[in-house]
Parts: sequence; C-alpha cells; structure tokens
Amino acid sequence: MTIQNVTVLGSGTMGAGIAQTAIVAGFDTTLYDIEDGLLEKARAQISKRMDRQVEKGRLDAPRAAEAMGRLSTSSDLDAAVKEADYLIEAVPEKLELKREIFGRCEGSAPAHCVFGTNTSTLMISSIAESLSDKGRLIGIHFFNPVPVMKLIEVVMGPDSSNTSYVATLEVAQKMRKETVKVAESPGFTTSRINALIGNESFRMLEAGVASASDIDKALKLGLNHPMGPFEMVDLVGLDARLNNLRALYAALGDEAYRPSPLLERLVEDGRLGRKSGQGVYRYDDSGQRIVGSDDVSP
Ligand SMILES: NC(=O)c1ccc[n+]([C@@H]2O[C@H](COP(=O)([O-])OP(=O)(O)OC[C@H]3O[C@@H](n4cnc5c(N)ncnc54)[C@H](O)[C@@H]3O)[C@@H](O)[C@H]2O)c1
Repeated sequence: MTIQNVTVLGSGTMGAGIAQTAIVAGFDTTLYDIEDGLLEKARAQISKRMDRQVEKGRLDAPRAAEAMGRLSTSSDLDAAVKEADYLIEAVPEKLELKREIFGRCEGSAPAHCVFGTNTSTLMISSIAESLSDKGRLIGIHFFNPVPVMKLIEVVMGPDSSNTSYVATLEVAQKMRKETVKVAESPGFTTSRINALIGNESFRMLEAGVASASDIDKALKLGLNHPMGPFEMVDLVGLDARLNNLRALYAALGDEAYRPSPLLERLVEDGRLGRKSGQGVYRYDDSGQRIVGSDDVSP
C-alpha cells in the first residue's frame, strides 16, 4: 500500500510532534482535536518548531514552508478521517475513549485505512474490542519529543494483521525512524523499564538517599543514561507517569510498580513537570530549569 494521507487524532504533546514529523516526511497530514482553539495552538507550536529547525540549519526554508502546506486541521472527526490511509491516535490514555474513537472511525475511514494507536500502556486487543475488523489495529508507539527520538515500538496485538504491520513499517521508514517489533504486554519494552526506574528514583528521593539532581547525575555519569530520571519525568509529565504506573501496577500486580506517594503528592499539588512550570525541578518562563530548584522534600 502507498500511504499518502495520515490523520493524527489528538493535538497534544504527542499528536503535535507526530503531525510535525509526518509533514516533514511528506505525508498529507490532518490533525484532529475536539476544539479549534487547541488545533490553532498546535499549528502555532509546530510552525514555531519548524522555524527553529530552519534557524539551526537543519531544514531549509522552502522545505519547511512546503511541509507546513501539507498540514490541515479539523475538529470534525468524520471529515478528518474520511480520506486517511493511516490513522495515528494520540488522545489521552483512557481505554474507553480510545475504543470509542476507533469505533467511530471504523464507520467513516476508508476500508483500507490502518488504525495505529500511540498508547503507552494499554493492550491493543482491549482497544480493538470496539472494532469489527480487529486486524487493522496496531500499536505505533512514539517517544517524546517525537521529531527527535529515533525509535518506534511497533506493537502487535494477537489479531494485528500483516498488512497493518507492513503499513506501519512504511510510515516509520518515511519518518526515518527505527522500529522494534513487540508483542502486546503491559508497558511494552520501554515504558515498563522506564516507569520502574522512575518510580524507584522517587522512592530513593523519598527515603533521603540522595537529592534529585544527584540521582540524575548518578544515572547520567555512572550508568551512561543520556537524561536523569527526574529530568525525564519533568519532560514526560508527572501525571502521565503516574497514570502509566497505575496501569502497570494493575496489570502486573508487582509492588515495584505501586506509584510512590511522593509522585502522587506532586501531581496532587499540580506539579506536572515542564508543562506546568514545576515538577521535580522549577522552570522559568522561557522553559529554562532554575538552578538549585530540586527542592522536593519527602
Ligand atoms: N507524553 C508522552 O511522553 C507519551 C509518550 C508516548 C506515548 N504517549 C501516549 O500518547 C497519548 C497522548 O498523550 P499526550 O501526552 O500527547 O497527551 P496530551 O494530554 O498532551 O494530549 C491529548 C490530546 O487529546 C485531545 N483529546 C482529548 N479528548 C479527545 C477526543 N475525544 N478526541 C480527540 N482528541 C481528544 C486533548 O485535547 C489533547 O490535545 C496517550 O495515549 C499517551 O499514553 C505519551
């Protein structure tokens, strides 16, 4: 199949990044969300990021303008998917919501359209329950920030078809991403390990083992991780991490995944990470981390 039209459902952190990557890869891309205001915000964000790529010499200006010309937006779901060859769903991590959206898309997307979900933790087979053709659903799991991160985990549900798999490889290849093939399982490969490291880091912080910045430094310089676990959770969002841990704990039943009370408290206090200006660290208005701001106490 030659894929030309891609529709991205949800224009948040991941959806906007996926749409940006899709237009640069040459796909005619429709971005869908529930409100026009959110779509305008996402378009402005994508445009700003593309400008920055041009300033840095990573993309030439005519190519960036051409790519922006391939982006359209819509808050009408049926219209957004009616010509799609491939859907990439990036709405919040709620099973019922994903089921409902794909169920509706089955009625309005072309019969050949493959349904990709960017879920981090949910089972492909559970999401597919709302579909009569379960083979068309597959996991296409991107990483944040999407334009930068090289990997896509291709997650196979028990019914995901070979056609869906081949189409997903085509999308990934055009986006210049590497892929790994994973059988559906809680947290796949990356989220399962990452959530564990992140949770243990909060537990160490809670127990007073070391400061947040020293735990980050230890993992970066001692274990060669490119980012510390707290730098990472501030980027991913503390609320997103908490949701992942809850889902993993429910699925695996392993105490190691029971969310740390400190993480729960920070989320309750609205400290969600970079997006709210404060997570484990604090950030100034330009998004720069404030030096000496790892003042989280147990
Ligand atoms: N944030 C990450 O680092 C990350 C990484 C990999 C995968 N994921 C997964 O990607 C998905 C999206 O995560 P995110 O961080 O971008 O979330 P987000 O909250 O930033 O964005 C979600 C978007 O979906 C929109 N939305 C809500 N209800 C909708 C509906 N009914 N129809 C269409 N859009 C709707 C919201 O308005 C919002 O723009 C989740 O499944 C998450 O688990 C997230």
